[in-house]
Amino acid sequence: MNFASDNVVGASAPILEAIVRHNGGAMPAYGADPLTLGLTPRFRALFQHEDLAVFPVATGTAANALALAVMVPPFGLCLCHEEAHVMEDECGAPEFYTHGAKLHGLPGTGGKIAPDTLDGFLSGLTRHVKQMPPRALTLSQLTESGQVYTVEEIAALCRIAHGHGLTVHMDGARFANALSALGCSPAEMTWRAGIDILSFGASKNGALAAEAILVFRQDLADTLEYRRKRAGHILSKGRFLAAQLEAYLADDHWLANAAHANRMAARLAEGLGRIPGVRLAWPVQGNELFPILPDGLDEALRRGGALYYDWTSRSLPAGEAVRAGEGEEVLDLLRRGREGGDQADHRLARAHRL
Ligand SMILES: Cc1ncc(COP(=O)(O)O)c(C=O)c1O
Repeated sequence: MNFASDNVVGASAPILEAIVRHNGGAMPAYGADPLTLGLTPRFRALFQHEDLAVFPVATGTAANALALAVMVPPFGLCLCHEEAHVMEDECGAPEFYTHGAKLHGLPGTGGKIAPDTLDGFLSGLTRHVKQMPPRALTLSQLTESGQVYTVEEIAALCRIAHGHGLTVHMDGARFANALSALGCSPAEMTWRAGIDILSFGASKNGALAAEAILVFRQDLADTLEYRRKRAGHILSKGRFLAAQLEAYLADDHWLANAAHANRMAARLAEGLGRIPGVRLAWPVQGNELFPILPDGLDEALRRGGALYYDWTSRSLPAGEAVRAGEGEEVLDLLRRGREGGDQADHRLARAHRL
């Protein structure tokens, strides 16, 4: 039982089949193939946006770092949550791709930045050539704690950021899970609320290795193609990235996967909630779980073969009592929660925000 990350399972069948289906024959290279060209109208229709520009890449880190590179100059600040993936888990890729811009982490419960926190920070800044000017805000949807920003929260943050001259990026590594949780449209959760660039994740929800940078403002798209090439993220056989994204969107496969993953996470949370001594640090809103396990239970689970990450030592409870046999009971629930799980990968806990 491996609950470590939504990346520990393979790709879903329709996506693998699409790769094989599009393997035969010759096609133009470097994104000039019909599959890649077809992504633009496909995403434009999905996001109800006529000028949307699409840049497929193979990893979420590349999507985030390249997106931030067009938003923030080398001397600029990029605001994010203090636990954001861009801040803690991308080995400095945003700083590298922006040629030196600095990330500044803001606090907030559940991985969310509150509008007042953002406004307070921006309004309180001294404006002097000695200080790096803030140029962008990036929000993770789901957050690093598995929480969902509501459309109203996104809109409020974007209003404040735009009011201070910042552009706004969304790290949508778990975009589908968030969308499924909110039940709104892709447009409502992004550009209509003020998002300027989105890292549209697919790898965590069924793709083999595919994400797309979606740019809602034409001026921000201008240099991205060169930056993508320079970063080594224009695949010569681009058809395989496109085939994954096309199959991901076809027949709402992405939405079905995400809804299933969210349902399995809720089911697991419900089971865990019945066990005395186990509680969740945050409510389950998407496909991630952050249970607080008593030490003895944690050991029993690991001995029984369950794999998951410690998520933060700060939040570990002190002095939890463990009932006799509690470990076995949880293992059984976990087993049943995984039946038919496939892509329904949810994390029991996460460390290092993988
Ligand atoms: C919130 C978030 N953003 C981005 C990523 C980047 O993913 P990758 O490992 O594909 O670079 C991850 C991966 O765990 C993530 O959790």
